[in-house]
Amino acid sequence: MAAYSDLVIEHFQNPRNAGEVESPDGEATTANPVCGDRMRVTIRVTGGRLAEVRWQTRGCPPAIATSSFASEMVQGWTLEDASALTREAIATGIGGLPADKVHCSVLAADAIRAAIADYREKHPGG
Ligand code: FES
Repeated sequence: MAAYSDLVIEHFQNPRNAGEVESPDGEATTANPVCGDRMRVTIRVTGGRLAEVRWQTRGCPPAIATSSFASEMVQGWTLEDASALTREAIATGIGGLPADKVHCSVLAADAIRAAIADYREKHPGG
């Protein structure tokens, strides 16, 4: 059994921001290229910042935990900053992941970036 940080276990047991933003400003579903697990992200944007980030993830415990952690992490961030979110930042922020589970954090980073790209496509100039 892989050794997870306290934060990974805590977010897996008590996930934050799970669900769906009603009438979202941006949305995206991405799949992890390594395992095929999936994450859907919906966002509300206010004044160029992420006002609400919600997610639904079909994946392993670290995928659930990093989805929850990332959704809290980027709350209030500018779209520019959130677009630059990396899986490394998520993995480090959550206290590290076992080597064979580092790929699981790519899901949250990819899905949040994709939801922002969707917002930008739907709101050019906004
Ligand atoms: Fe698929 Fe972790 S094994 S995201």
